[in-house]
Amino acid sequence: MDMIPVNELIRGYQLYAEEYNKKAISVLQSGWYILGKEVEEFEREFAQALGDDCYCAGVDNGLNAIRLGLHACGITEGDEVIVQSNGYIATMLGITQNGAVPIFVEPDKYHNMDADKIEAAITEKTKAVLVTHLYGQATRMEKITDICKRNKLMLFEDCAQSHFASYKGTNTGLFGKAGFFSFYPTKNLGGFGDGGGVVSHDRDLIDKIKTLRNYGSDYKYHNIVPGFNSRLDEMQAGLLRVKLSHMKELLANRKRIAEAYLAGIHNPHIRMPEVADGAVPIWYQFIVNVQNQAGFRKYMLDKGVQTDVHFPTPPHLQPALSYLGHRKGSFPIAEKDCETVVSLPMMDYLSEEEINKVIGVANAYEG
Ligand SMILES: Cc1ncc(COP(=O)(O)O)c(C=O)c1O
Repeated sequence: MDMIPVNELIRGYQLYAEEYNKKAISVLQSGWYILGKEVEEFEREFAQALGDDCYCAGVDNGLNAIRLGLHACGITEGDEVIVQSNGYIATMLGITQNGAVPIFVEPDKYHNMDADKIEAAITEKTKAVLVTHLYGQATRMEKITDICKRNKLMLFEDCAQSHFASYKGTNTGLFGKAGFFSFYPTKNLGGFGDGGGVVSHDRDLIDKIKTLRNYGSDYKYHNIVPGFNSRLDEMQAGLLRVKLSHMKELLANRKRIAEAYLAGIHNPHIRMPEVADGAVPIWYQFIVNVQNQAGFRKYMLDKGVQTDVHFPTPPHLQPALSYLGHRKGSFPIAEKDCETVVSLPMMDYLSEEEINKVIGVANAYEG
């Protein structure tokens, strides 16, 4: 068997190639390429699929969904926003690009924000909590929602990795003021280029973001606020509509792979992912923890299974954020995770044969 890739995007395209091709040609032939019918329909369909009484503004990527969303809610210079210490730097850049300061709290055993550590991080400058539902696992939200209410903090969700992951019946993105999505190609709802979206129950907020994404323009050549150019294009929106229409099958496919791994991999050297009670994951990544990260990855590769590390460096140790003054040891749980997490092959399609090979090879690892 050929090497099993950790992800191979072409497989997702091939599943519905005819529909994607047809949509791409229809957008090309429409003569309208930015903010049009496809974007409007996608926004409507995505919001409707997520839940009742919510709205979506499509933007150009996930980082700008966070950046514009926080900006529209008044997050500004000197404000503090509580985030988790593990994850991807985009979450923090969405905060710092508004002049605000990310305040880190450590994650729980599900790799999501540990609610028990939030209150110690609140100061008089704290304006919001921004949780990330990492790797497609929904965060346990009760306590976080309660802390935000009691302390009058806005609650935001980074859902770049959690499209349709839910907690106790509610889809991620709908718990607080706004949810920020990325439609980057690797995401469960990923396009064929960059894309992002802000989702909220607050229609005025979504209208504000629609103005901000288009140079602050409320109608043609009239600019009420200094805005950005952060528009979603018709091609991405059209292709995302095709993918969205197949979301149930796509989610079921990842669930099939994850359940096979969970049932099949039994190795004392490999800590398997846990799912919180009430959480329905979407398996954006299938993350295991292994003490000898490099050794395990080399072993897997030698046996024909590619793996990855999401992510090798915690945000607080990235040179880009060194001005925040953190150092090695500042957030040991996040640091330890970076040294031990390994992503197993997970994508829109894996054959039974491939899944069984991953399981067999992982089980034979001797540490
Ligand atoms: C948790 C998280 N937040 C934000 C982003 C940013 O999304 P994008 O790459 O679309 O800007 C990503 C994606 O890569 C992500 O994984």
